[in-house]
Amino acid sequence: MAHLPPGPRSALPQLRHMRDPFPYMVALAREFGDTITVPILGAEPIVCTADPTEIRAIFSADPLAFASATNEAISVILGRGSIFLQAGEPHRRTRKLLMPAFHGERVRGYAARMQQATVRWSASLPRDRVAPILPVAQGITLDVIIEAIFGEQDPARVRSLHEGILGVVDSFNPLIATFAALQREFFGLGPWAKFRRKAEALEETMRALIALKRDAPGDDVLSLLVAARDEEGQALSERDVIEQLLTFVVAGHETTATSVAWAVYELLRAPNALATLVRELDEARSGAAIPTADSLVNLRYLRAVCDETLRMHPPVPLVQRRCARPLSLGAYELPAGTMVAANAFAAHHREAVFAEPFAFRPERFIEKSYTPFEYLPFGGGHRRCLGAAFAGYELAVMLGTLLSSQRFELAEPAPVRNAFRIGTYGPETGVRVRTLS
Ligand code: HEM
Repeated sequence: MAHLPPGPRSALPQLRHMRDPFPYMVALAREFGDTITVPILGAEPIVCTADPTEIRAIFSADPLAFASATNEAISVILGRGSIFLQAGEPHRRTRKLLMPAFHGERVRGYAARMQQATVRWSASLPRDRVAPILPVAQGITLDVIIEAIFGEQDPARVRSLHEGILGVVDSFNPLIATFAALQREFFGLGPWAKFRRKAEALEETMRALIALKRDAPGDDVLSLLVAARDEEGQALSERDVIEQLLTFVVAGHETTATSVAWAVYELLRAPNALATLVRELDEARSGAAIPTADSLVNLRYLRAVCDETLRMHPPVPLVQRRCARPLSLGAYELPAGTMVAANAFAAHHREAVFAEPFAFRPERFIEKSYTPFEYLPFGGGHRRCLGAAFAGYELAVMLGTLLSSQRFELAEPAPVRNAFRIGTYGPETGVRVRTLS
């Protein structure tokens, strides 16, 4: 048996923290140290580290030291060619192809569309009534992906793609991913048949869109994917393009939406921070009803609010890797096959780096800068989030636009917990607010 870092002997205490396990991870780090082995109920243990030196060791290790840590079950939705499931040389090649599409300057060009989607969706919030903000944020982020990534601008077709994607997500029954035996049609009936019908309809729409971009490329990510060639001059196959598009939906939709909902939650509980932000937004207005999307992305306090939200509520709290060969982590030699994680949640709550870690204090990102091994909401190294610049713009534009055009009151009588949602974590209640008229 390999000698792994210390940690609780049993996974049973976790049962008490099932719904919101991450504050418990901080307690474990305080009890056992920054590097711990966390037993997982019904699965293998994960070695988690919040120590910046060891996080650096993970993020700067040779990419070939790791296999993909993504649960195989996700291939049922995304297909096997998704960058999530790739490792080694195929992963490097795909990243190289996709990277230019997410470059900072290119992403800036999407800011106006992000703002239009926010204005459109926020108008649907009922006045003087209580409603959760998360569904509105999800509506915006999905439309942004359809418009900026897929390059679809026609309102009717945006709506139909939006419904098509939600149809696939809603018809996905986790049992069909877990039990391969259920992945067959029973005379056109059953969960698999329902899921495949929805998925095929969506893929059909995507194929039509791909054909369109081949003939008339636009300034969207899909057009770049269709035109991209690898080092041997090879284009991506139609199947590959579809799988990467679906990956962007999964990676970029819920993560950004939950972050906006958390930002609204934290701001409405921190009147001083809200007042500072509203002042900054008012100054940026220059006589217009709302500041332009371009001006929003340059606002210092708004950026700090986004950074602080991702610090307190990283949508991916554990950035995981599976060791393909032995890995030295401090005093430990982890054997091949071990699951290892940079513990973003615990790293973001280390007293030594972030004073009063459970307090929402955007100023800390103006007063000081942090290394990528202390602050890691987008992961790091050879798998760092490809959409980080895109998400940074989107968060600033969505939040800045929402708070310039509406006033909200928090309608949550008790603290909102983090809860597991499709593939990520987010506010359990969706953050209920009253929109003031
Ligand atoms: C607040 C929003 C977001 C957060 C916090 C976030 C966070 C992350 C994290 C932690 C990872 C894993 C990194 C690692 O293993 O080191 C990741 C991967 C990824 N993200 Fe994001 N993400 C966000 C939004 C987006 C958006 C908007 C897109 C694209 C539209 C996107 C595309 C991707 C892709 C393609 C990967 C896989 C990269 C790879 O395996 O090489 N993400 N993201």
